[in-house]
Amino acid sequence: MTALPSVFAPRLIAWQRQVGRHGLPWQGTRDPYRVWLSEIMLQQTQVSTVLGYYPRFLERFPDVAALAAASADDVMSLWSGLGYYSRARNLHRCAQAVVAQHGGQFPRTAAELQTLPGIGASTAAAIAAFCYGERVSILDGNVRRVLSRVLAIDGDVTAASTQRELWTQAQALLPSDPAGDDMAAYTQGLMDLGATLCTRSKPRCMDCPMTDVCEARQGGDPARFPVKRRKIARRFERWWLLLLTRDDAVWLQRRPEQGIWAGLYAPPVFDSEAAMCEAVGDRVDGLRALEPLSHSLTHRELQLLPHRLTCVPAPGLSGQWVPLAQALGLGLPAPVRLLLQALHAQPLPQ
Ligand code: ADE
Repeated sequence: MTALPSVFAPRLIAWQRQVGRHGLPWQGTRDPYRVWLSEIMLQQTQVSTVLGYYPRFLERFPDVAALAAASADDVMSLWSGLGYYSRARNLHRCAQAVVAQHGGQFPRTAAELQTLPGIGASTAAAIAAFCYGERVSILDGNVRRVLSRVLAIDGDVTAASTQRELWTQAQALLPSDPAGDDMAAYTQGLMDLGATLCTRSKPRCMDCPMTDVCEARQGGDPARFPVKRRKIARRFERWWLLLLTRDDAVWLQRRPEQGIWAGLYAPPVFDSEAAMCEAVGDRVDGLRALEPLSHSLTHRELQLLPHRLTCVPAPGLSGQWVPLAQALGLGLPAPVRLLLQALHAQPLPQ
């Protein structure tokens, strides 16, 4: 097989320039403030969500001095809805550190950038590669997946020894002699490959520029990588679901944009039986418990306790009546869909 280090970077750069993502609002600039802001927003948050926040944030805080001078409340209010709020607190602290300790200029190396609040090794590398062409590698979750596949790294990715190996390999695969904006294209290429082709499930190997040199692909089961041996600890939680029904309609709320079931439709959720009972007031005697359901999420093991209550007037809860047939066409969490399908199939007596 062709030696990976000799082809990886040239192919990735060519692929990024040809079919990678272009024209995102944080591309085509070498302004470290803009690049840093985008990288922090893009941690744990999808591009489509960040697109709605990034221009608004820049309009209000056009440079690092403006952000440093803002109140914490103003920063939080513009961040509101993006989640992971420690990012916003660190963002503000970082802007203040750049002004107070670096005369308002971001440092120009990944090593120095990493000393600032909220900037880890991978984010520092992204800023240094995009803005200054430094020959350093990023290593975020997507890149760990890409590298563990092309190299068929069998160690548990959560283990410190595997993380060290991945950093070493990431450095070894860098372009040997980057010129011009090669480092920007290479870094964006790593991100794009992980986000568009080398996805967690069903990777699109046929379209991948590395298909003939990818060890995981040769092995026939690329989705087996990255290997995670340790089980993720899941927190157990009980959620009481209030299934209010009226004729053939059910009361649904749109979930907040962040958190579990973000943006989906679901019946009102309560974290205790008492809270649910309080919400239904004097109709509490009509509540009927349905079969509990188990539902696993990345960090939660949910026990769902659905309770049905029929024929109530529009309750003092946010949400709306939705005919069951129409509700099944909405974005619903999987267990809620099951519950509504069961209701639709055999409506209980009113
Ligand atoms: N995720 C993290 N950084 C990104 C970038 N610069 N472009 C697209 N997605 C990203």
